[in-house]
Amino acid sequence: MRGKRFQRIAGAVVLAAAALSCAAAAGLTVGGTPQRTALPDVAGPFRPDPARVLLGRQVFFDARLSEPAGTSCASCHDPAQGFAGDHGSRIGVALGSRPDLVGVRNVPSVLYAAYVPPLFFYQDDDAPAPTPFGGLFADGRVDTVAQLVRHPLLDPLEMRNPDTDAIARKLRTAPYADGFKRAFGPDVFATTAGALAALGAAMDAFLQSREMAPFSSRYDAWVQGRAQLTTQELRGLKLFKDPDRGNCVSCHKFNETSTNPARSLFTDFGYDAIGVPRNRAIPANRDPRRFDEGLCATAAAKGWPDSGQWCGYFRTPSLRNVAARERYMHNGVFANLRDAVAFYATRGIEPRRWYRDGRLFDDVAPRHRGNVNVATLPYNRRQGMTPALDDADIDAIVAFLGTLTDAPFEAAARRNMAAQAARCRQTSGTGLVSDVGAYCLPSKR
Ligand code: HEC
Ligand code: HEC
Repeated sequence: MRGKRFQRIAGAVVLAAAALSCAAAAGLTVGGTPQRTALPDVAGPFRPDPARVLLGRQVFFDARLSEPAGTSCASCHDPAQGFAGDHGSRIGVALGSRPDLVGVRNVPSVLYAAYVPPLFFYQDDDAPAPTPFGGLFADGRVDTVAQLVRHPLLDPLEMRNPDTDAIARKLRTAPYADGFKRAFGPDVFATTAGALAALGAAMDAFLQSREMAPFSSRYDAWVQGRAQLTTQELRGLKLFKDPDRGNCVSCHKFNETSTNPARSLFTDFGYDAIGVPRNRAIPANRDPRRFDEGLCATAAAKGWPDSGQWCGYFRTPSLRNVAARERYMHNGVFANLRDAVAFYATRGIEPRRWYRDGRLFDDVAPRHRGNVNVATLPYNRRQGMTPALDDADIDAIVAFLGTLTDAPFEAAARRNMAAQAARCRQTSGTGLVSDVGAYCLPSKR
């Protein structure tokens, strides 16, 4: 199944491969990032300490922790949108703790984030060279939840704390401070480093909890023989799997015969450059020379050879609960799930439908546009070719994606999908790129 994914990776990576093959087999690394000889087994099952889970949850929902107060982790990772959302910004990227500050990336769901492995390289059977997997954030720059927590708390476009001392001070005076002392010892607040470590451990536990990885979707029930899928959903699943049609599974990995639901996270944690359109509503994008190029920033920071080959690459997200989300892709450019799927099918065939001026891959710096994957199905098509998926196929895949919604988010996803369909009908027919990022291509239904 993975075969179709790697047709493209060629010349540039071979350099890295040559450098690597000289290294000793044991302790192989790429610029300090470990290279594994086998894919790690799926993580879990987790058994986090309930006291820590509770503390992590209290922190997650604590709006005192931002500067000014009012923005919690849950403001952006909103339970009403499957623990994603953009804090009400409506332009596809996150609004910060001040109403005049917006970030540069769409907020991902933190459901199932505990399953993301730390960044590593691995050479798949059919890949010409080792490629990266794992790491948190769209560019994999942080390895663990415990290390990540301080980033949103300190980010000037997010929770805006001036330094770690300010975070520790707020924890020490929090209503749940005694809980931290009971769980981590009376001296937990003695040093800022100690307080931050406890905060990381608590958040780690919360994201490992059942609440944050429920595996309670209709898809999960169907795998266990406890639910039926409709004819259209089953057709969507088939297209999603078929290497000659959707081929989605080559990156959004799942296994419908396994009794372990963690084998169906709908991602392999790998990276790809799919060339989504530029989101012109992002304030930072007013600078035409500014490009968010994802993984190559991490590659440069870590000293991987030829880091530029990773420009345009972003980590493949899980598609669980995708129907509860209002914006899609790392830059939030799509406001419609159907568009996100249709993009795969017609990106190269009808570039004018997706890119202003029809210029392909306009959100990748011109010198890196050659990195974008044009070999893998379904986006190995050019103008004049037949799409790998037609309108009815796209509808079926969207219907299948709807089966990946966990029980607590079912109502929200239904409302969201209905609102998206209604918006789509209002603006359908033009096929033009709108400045708010809503393309809303016509649906035949
Ligand atoms: C202002 C909005 C905002 C707030 C508040 C916020 N986040 Fe995030 N979060 C984001 C964005 C945007 C990303 C994606 C950033 C990127 O890829 O570079 C993200 C990514 C993450 C990820 C990585 C998920 C993945 O799959 O890679 C985790 C985990 C996370 N946040 C946890 C938290 C925690 C814990 C808090 C509270 C301490 C928090 N966030 C507060 C916006 C926010
Ligand atoms: C070659 C790997 C690859 C294949 C094949 C692939 N995807 Fe993706 N998918 C990605 C990557 C990488 C992203 C993130 C891109 C970004 O953020 O810029 C993504 C993002 C998405 C998103 C947006 C999710 C979100 O929460 O923002 C959806 C929906 C999606 N893919 C559905 C599909 C479907 C349906 C198919 C099959 C028709 C498919 N993908 C095939 C790699 C792939």
